[in-house]
Amino acid sequence: MVQDLKQWNPHLWPPFTQIQSSSPPATVKEAEGALLVTENGNKIIDAISSWWVTLHGHANPYIAAAIHKQAHELEQVIFADFTHPQAERLASRLSKLTGLERLFFSDNGSTAVEVAIKIACQFWQNRGVPKYQIIAFEGAYHGDTFGAMAVGERNLFNAPFEKMLFPVARLRWPSTWWGDDQIEAKEKAALIELKKLLETPTAAVILEPLLQGAGGMAMVRPSFLRAVETLIRQANTLMITDEVLTGFGRCGELFAYLKAKIKPDLIAISKGLTGGFLPMGVTLAREEIFQAFIGEEPKLTFWHGHSFTANPLGCAAANASLDLLENNPEAYVNFESRHLNHLKAIAHHAKVSKPRLIGTIAAFNIKIKGKKGYLNSIGKKFKEMALERGVLIRPLGDVVYLLPPLCIDDTQLEKCYSVITEILNEL
Ligand SMILES: Cc1ncc(COP(=O)(O)O)c(C=O)c1O
Repeated sequence: MVQDLKQWNPHLWPPFTQIQSSSPPATVKEAEGALLVTENGNKIIDAISSWWVTLHGHANPYIAAAIHKQAHELEQVIFADFTHPQAERLASRLSKLTGLERLFFSDNGSTAVEVAIKIACQFWQNRGVPKYQIIAFEGAYHGDTFGAMAVGERNLFNAPFEKMLFPVARLRWPSTWWGDDQIEAKEKAALIELKKLLETPTAAVILEPLLQGAGGMAMVRPSFLRAVETLIRQANTLMITDEVLTGFGRCGELFAYLKAKIKPDLIAISKGLTGGFLPMGVTLAREEIFQAFIGEEPKLTFWHGHSFTANPLGCAAANASLDLLENNPEAYVNFESRHLNHLKAIAHHAKVSKPRLIGTIAAFNIKIKGKKGYLNSIGKKFKEMALERGVLIRPLGDVVYLLPPLCIDDTQLEKCYSVITEILNEL
């Protein structure tokens, strides 16, 4: 498909988009709950929470009011030499919820990951036992800044920068699905690989707990992560969990690591942190790590910061979002059961393989010829067919998934599944 480029806004450079082979975007003029409303008045169910950020629903009035109030009181203040009540409240709440005492604020998921990697590396240097190896998993996605790209899967997206990315040791991610009878062997092989890699002094192991998102909604078993944790502890290294996607109830508990019953040393969060209203990232660290950065020598300091660190509007949104989660945990705890029968119903469709489900996220692969993974053109076709029917689904190549906001009602969810079924029937 070659597009008439004149249909595209001459000033916008859209993310992750080759405009030569894509349709121009629709303009959204408003949104409410699970619905986006375009300038033509079309209503679209946002079944992917607008890149996984919209947690409770679009234009949630409680969060909107909190931001409005905060904007009239304090919109921004330099976060060195000063602090403010919303940041302090958020820090103590997140610390209590996670058991990790220290919060470092940044701007998005990538920066939250960058900060975690930098803290981990500098931690060992400050301790006088420098370690430089980072271990990550095949298929991982941790963001688009340089450090985040380095720990992510090396692929087409970061190929132009390959020579500039620091080396990372990598092992397989033993993902699983309903009816997978190879899982024991896959996990065993991965653990053998990890054990071998950990023979080299390692600053940190980074992973997306329970679910790799961009890597294809690839789910692992909690017991695998517990075995990974045991090896990490034996090797005296740090565990970074990237909860940028999985945090805030997406996997059915407040954080995926809680569900897996592991204890990370550093946690990166973003996306749902502000309920999806404002960009903000946070890296949580254990107190012991923070203590290694205290001392007379300037070199011990963590010399990192962003202009908008702990922006009061973002913190107000995050505090309001936490209120909503605390007041109604059933919204995420019970979400899996809302998917279950729908997914069971399509699991045996001739075009469906590897059905899988965790918390609010349901996924499967389309049985289709062509390139594996993200570059399979079926994703784009599927997206367009779903949009024509009023549902925003953005498959990762041949992986179709639903990751809706918590507020989606049963009728809307049912529509998502019936649209998926219709498209599968037509493929
Ligand atoms: C697990 C994970 N980490 C990091 C990121 C990067 O976050 P951001 O796009 O906010 O930089 C993403 C984004 O999708 C993600 O899914």
